[in-house]
Amino acid sequence: MGGQPLYLAPRLGPRLRSVLESPGWLHTLTDALGSPLHVVLPDQVVENLDGFRTSYGRHQLSGQVFFAHKANRSSAVLRRLAATDAGVDVASLGELQHALGSGFAPDRIMVTGPKNLELLWLAARSAVTVGVDTPEELAQLAALVRTYKLARVRVLLRLSGFAATGVRVLSRRSRFGTPVRELAALLDLIERYGDAVDLTGVAYHVDTTSITEKVTALEGCLLALEECRSRGLRPRAVDVGGGFGVNYLADGGQWERYTTELTGAVLGTRPPLTWGGHRYGLRNENGTLRGTLGLYPAHRPVTGARYLDELLTHPAPSFGGRPLAELLLDCLYDLYAEPGRALLDQCGTTLAKVLEVRAPRDGGPLLVRLAAKADDVALEEHGVLMDPIVLPGNAAPCDTRAEPVAVHLFGSLCLETDLITRRTVFLPRRPEPGDLLAFANTAGYCMDFHATRAQDQPVARKVAVWQEGGAWRWCLDDEYWPISVGGAQ
Ligand SMILES: Cc1ncc(COP(=O)(O)O)c(C=O)c1O
Repeated sequence: MGGQPLYLAPRLGPRLRSVLESPGWLHTLTDALGSPLHVVLPDQVVENLDGFRTSYGRHQLSGQVFFAHKANRSSAVLRRLAATDAGVDVASLGELQHALGSGFAPDRIMVTGPKNLELLWLAARSAVTVGVDTPEELAQLAALVRTYKLARVRVLLRLSGFAATGVRVLSRRSRFGTPVRELAALLDLIERYGDAVDLTGVAYHVDTTSITEKVTALEGCLLALEECRSRGLRPRAVDVGGGFGVNYLADGGQWERYTTELTGAVLGTRPPLTWGGHRYGLRNENGTLRGTLGLYPAHRPVTGARYLDELLTHPAPSFGGRPLAELLLDCLYDLYAEPGRALLDQCGTTLAKVLEVRAPRDGGPLLVRLAAKADDVALEEHGVLMDPIVLPGNAAPCDTRAEPVAVHLFGSLCLETDLITRRTVFLPRRPEPGDLLAFANTAGYCMDFHATRAQDQPVARKVAVWQEGGAWRWCLDDEYWPISVGGAQ
């Protein structure tokens, strides 16, 4: 193989680990339902929700956690959450219909993102809360309410373009939300449409891992609420959006080592670590490393509910350095959050069968072709680098003399670009046709967000799995209702 293997082992929680420790069962499922196969663990999402609730409790904050539905289309996940006190954030007509049909009462649904007229109408008709993106959208919504004589719609104003006090840096540029400098004009409209809309809060979603940008945005929202109140409006919720993140890798040291070696490969001081010399955004300019590593920070010690904690305990420079949670509590504001990826942490795995293993004539990593397209396992699309787990296809005892191998993982399309990952992957032993590769932790955005029917290949099936009486049970995702699984509430 040449050199030490550079593993990036996935972080596995007890529930996901337990499923992956049932390889015979997973083989039976894929034999019956085809490869690739998505496996979701709806009970895990409830555990993750509890983590967010605990964080709210720690800061004595009330409010709601809205699952960002876009992260996974699973009915099982949605129906399982409907059986809790969670809310759901929907971003399309289909998602709103799905949420209503899964048992979410309208007061637990929020519509965000760009909206067409049909979505606005169904939102207003069914009395869900609307996160308004622009003044134009507000006018459209008010017109619908007036034309169809609907009840006043609860709205949150999504704001963007926040500026930190005393610093030149603005929060990330976004094409969503109304720039906060246009707040006054937006509030004029809220007053003008007072018969049609009821302002209940303000919101942001900044797509970044940076806590500083989020602090700036949250402070900006608190200032915006002050402005609302100075006009006699009474909004009481701040929606901090999503982006709490996931820690994908078990070992920070492996991540450090991998990124250092990748840098070396780009600079030419070690053999390549990718297919076709791909550089993940880095480049070598006369021996100097340039560019930005375009990868998700796969090992992140503070994510999910702990990241929310860190945000809430952060001092707010515009408010004399007081912690943000204290400011929210002082004003009795409700905290809304819309986690997608973080609520789906450890909630699923994608299985793909090995079809072919070939040694290239010129040496180098083995070429491994899978019965799956890159779009079925979209970890690479999201910049997440993480090793799959080999689930051997035969029942033969594990060969203790097995040697690590370097492989390139290809998809099933006849496209040069259909690579499951452009990274050279190191596996503890040579995979064989018939083995399964299990890609862990794919439930957030990496299962169905990018799914296609390219080359008329079927879209992966999805199954829901749960533990009952010490054994794993399964059903098709669409067949799952929490009532049928041993009394889960
Ligand atoms: C408005 C809004 N809320 C929440 C989310 C969820 O983000 P994440 O999955 O990173 O938590 C998104 C993601 O695009 C979003 O656009």
